[in-house]
Amino acid sequence: MDQKEQEEAINKILGKMKALPTLSLVVAKVIQVVSNPLTSASDLSKIITVDQALTAKVLRLANSAFYGFPFRIKNITQAVSILGFDTIRNLALTVSVYKVFTGEQDASFSHQDFWKHCVAVAICASLLAKKIKYKSPEGAFTAGLLHDIGKNFFDQYMHKEYIEALRLSEEKNISIYQAEQETLGIDHTKVGTLMVEKWNLPPELRAGVGSHHQPEMEKEEPVMAHIINVADIICKKKGIGFAGDNMVGPISREGKELFALDETTEADLMAQLDRELKEAEAFVNMPQQA
Ligand SMILES: [Fe+2]
Ligand SMILES: [Fe+2]
Repeated sequence: MDQKEQEEAINKILGKMKALPTLSLVVAKVIQVVSNPLTSASDLSKIITVDQALTAKVLRLANSAFYGFPFRIKNITQAVSILGFDTIRNLALTVSVYKVFTGEQDASFSHQDFWKHCVAVAICASLLAKKIKYKSPEGAFTAGLLHDIGKNFFDQYMHKEYIEALRLSEEKNISIYQAEQETLGIDHTKVGTLMVEKWNLPPELRAGVGSHHQPEMEKEEPVMAHIINVADIICKKKGIGFAGDNMVGPISREGKELFALDETTEADLMAQLDRELKEAEAFVNMPQQA
């Protein structure tokens, strides 16, 4: 693709980006109040309960085996006080972001397998974050769920071209990231960044979405970029779900150092990932329960 073609391709995407719905007002409000230290649990619950469907989904996730509470969380106020602001914010955000995407699916790109990849990356990212005592393991979980969101955009708004990119990746044995650049003139991290900006999501999520294939380029939140980069590689190595290709890159030297990864610690991490993934069925099934 020459420069002119690439410019045209990018303009086309910017045009389609206008059709991307905004996140719900409720979620925008949730993001805003959670970052305000004066917000109370009841303020936050009042905002969420305005949206009944969102309330029901957040409660379903809060009651899932993943969080493992031995009793039933009956309402949002209780969920907020038990799980904390960050978890609730992230659950609300995840539910709303994925509500934006529906649409047909193709045999070459199963939504179920793709979403499974995202859930696995989220879990692995939060394990890595906890391992290095990163400021926000919750944020790492959400960034993991959203990291490949640009692929949802392609799949929904440029379906035919995306199927072509998937075909190219398989045929030429190149990564989907590279095939996207060749077919569409732009890759999922760039499109994801445009979406994150449009939705005003916080910088740590922007870094997870925008820099997970080139963490060394991330200036603002480099640790998050490395967390998602390594989590992505580990999940592909384990063959969980499908995100567009079966290519597994090596973990970078920085990644290995940052998370103190060697054969043993990596095997431990994978075992832990397996255990947590079994408990995360409510997340894996979330899109089907929309
Ligand atoms: Fe990716
Ligand atoms: Fe990925």
